[in-house]
Amino acid sequence: MTVLQTGQGAVPAASNPVRMNKRLHMITWGCQMNVYDSLRMEDVLAPLGYAPTDTPDQADMVILNTCHIRDKAAEKVFSELGRLRLLKLEREAAGGKMILAVAGCVAQAEGAEILARAPYVDIVLGPQTYHRLPEMVAQAARAGGAVIETDFPAEQKFDFLPEASAAQGVTAFLTIQEGCDKFCSFCVVPYTRGAEASRPVVAVLAEASRLVAQGSREITLLGQNVNAWHGEAPDGSTWGLGQLLRELAAIPGLLRLRYTTSHPRDMDNDLIAAHGEIPALMPFLHLPVQSGSDRMLAAMNRKHTAADYLSVVGKLRASRPDMALSSDFIVGHPGETEADFEATLELIRQVKFAQAFSFKYSPRPGTPASGAPLQVPEAEKDRRLQVLQALLREQQAAFNAASEGLTLPILVTGPGRRPGQIGGRSPYLQPVHLIGPESLIGTEIPVRIVSGNASSLSGTLYQERASA
Ligand code: SAH
Ligand code: SF4
Ligand code: F3S
Repeated sequence: MTVLQTGQGAVPAASNPVRMNKRLHMITWGCQMNVYDSLRMEDVLAPLGYAPTDTPDQADMVILNTCHIRDKAAEKVFSELGRLRLLKLEREAAGGKMILAVAGCVAQAEGAEILARAPYVDIVLGPQTYHRLPEMVAQAARAGGAVIETDFPAEQKFDFLPEASAAQGVTAFLTIQEGCDKFCSFCVVPYTRGAEASRPVVAVLAEASRLVAQGSREITLLGQNVNAWHGEAPDGSTWGLGQLLRELAAIPGLLRLRYTTSHPRDMDNDLIAAHGEIPALMPFLHLPVQSGSDRMLAAMNRKHTAADYLSVVGKLRASRPDMALSSDFIVGHPGETEADFEATLELIRQVKFAQAFSFKYSPRPGTPASGAPLQVPEAEKDRRLQVLQALLREQQAAFNAASEGLTLPILVTGPGRRPGQIGGRSPYLQPVHLIGPESLIGTEIPVRIVSGNASSLSGTLYQERASA
């Protein structure tokens, strides 16, 4: 999963009666769900007069939305806090105030440690408590001293957050599911995000329609286990993700649908069939497998085998022949032998991934694997990661090279890196650059792919040759 950073968000409507006289700076790490949550925190603070700003200087409030998935992710938080402390002190010396809040998965997992190591932090709040943020801000302003909220509340935050109001642009995220009941041996998510919960059909459809009305053309449905989503439909029946996608695809103006992240065990036949039926559902799926060794998959408590994974991939490709796949891999999980690692390479050779993320196993406090015997030495993890990444890079380059000469529908998402360029995404999520007018942003256009590079494509606007 990519580490993302965003400093942008809601622009208050001109008719908003609230005076937006305070500045809020968000720093976001981790998965797309954190990016989405940051937008929702901006929504919940707007009625208090907080408008987003993209620098911490002069900010009245700074929120760090954090990730705990691997060691380095958590360490970044503490170094950023050290930097912000100086700004906070400067503000106070000048007679001002800066509220410093730590949200997200590090807050949930290490709330007490944050307050011990960084006592100048005003608010620590876990991912399920964002709807209570205004109360916490008021409390921090009144009392001084830290406010900490890391219990899992009985209520669902989405039922209490205001409607999402920030326009997200051509591509948008929509969280439909949160939490995880799978308890993979290595993973903190079940502890930081709590039990699996799905948002109801009506709420999802309403939010999707609003996003499209605000100009979004592609929606990516989010969840830690997004394909475990199930929701009660207006007629009282229970829908799975396949049915939800069929309904979303009917929203006029919505050109593309994606969903992430899926667990192989929850890839049911209806969802697989939906890939063959819904043209707006993009032929690209991020389906983490972690390892190709059944011994390791059992040790990881993944509850699927390599053959199960290959069978799901086979069914997906039968349903949608051009289906491209992405995955996550962990090397050096406790007990991983050279033979286990070889099995992972073999699975990769069989599937041929369009892209993938791979990580060295990082022991997370409190997870079963962290105390397991047979930890793999760091140098060996490094070596395996390099071998694995070389193979994945080769596959990605081959996938991109195979696009050369094709004409692909590209959703133009914004200006390109160079003047005169625009950029967008292929159906297979490849970034594409081409020369073209910015008036094409927000439209899907045919692009002739001229070259496929290591991680992106370049193309030209496709013009049908005039017939003689
Ligand atoms: N819900 C998704 C992914 C969640 S975390 C799934 O079920 O697969 C994103 C990725 O981070 C995981 O797929 C895994 O590859 C990686 N990851 C999680 N915990 C890790 C750890 N302790 N060390 C290294 N990588 C880890
Ligand atoms: Fe973590 Fe496993 Fe749950 Fe994914 S399925 S979030 S890897 S515990
Ligand atoms: Fe990180 Fe939490 Fe997402 S640990 S990957 S921010 S669910």
